[in-house]
Amino acid sequence: MSEAKILPILIAPDRRLKQRARPVTEADRAEIERLIPDLFATMYAAPGIGLAAPQVGIGLRLAVIDLRPEERPAPIVLVNPKVVAASAELATHEEGCLSLPNQYADVTRPARVKVAYTDEKGHERTLEAEGLLAACLQHEIDHLDGILFIDHLSPLKRNMILRRLAKEQRLKAAS
Ligand code: NI
Repeated sequence: MSEAKILPILIAPDRRLKQRARPVTEADRAEIERLIPDLFATMYAAPGIGLAAPQVGIGLRLAVIDLRPEERPAPIVLVNPKVVAASAELATHEEGCLSLPNQYADVTRPARVKVAYTDEKGHERTLEAEGLLAACLQHEIDHLDGILFIDHLSPLKRNMILRRLAKEQRLKAAS
């Protein structure tokens, strides 16, 4: 097995982050088997708790999550994930994103979700989640539809974050 690679993460407003990813098919199996370790390596190195394939420029419906409860690894691989049920009750969490470094905002979403997906071995699974995991699942599935957490905010707030990010990226490039 080859060493996992740390991949460059696309930064907003990269247009590729706004594209809808296509479903993973059996023909993609070899590619996703290579890609999954790279996604985890990239996410852990960042560090982050979730990463979707479109964030590294790959337009496939694939994402990885690890909330590391009590500092222990708890990796989740989501192939073709879909929210199949969501609570009417909402919850607000502060969200960030590796494609919007150093930017955070409160995002309100359904408090509980049920997600259907295929795991890395090709088994169909469902996961019921609440709290941070529910927010993280919805955030990553949004990426597969070209939606960023800032798209859930008012245009004013969204533009403020995008301007601040652009400024920070210019300063970083200049330094
Ligand atoms: Ni994100």
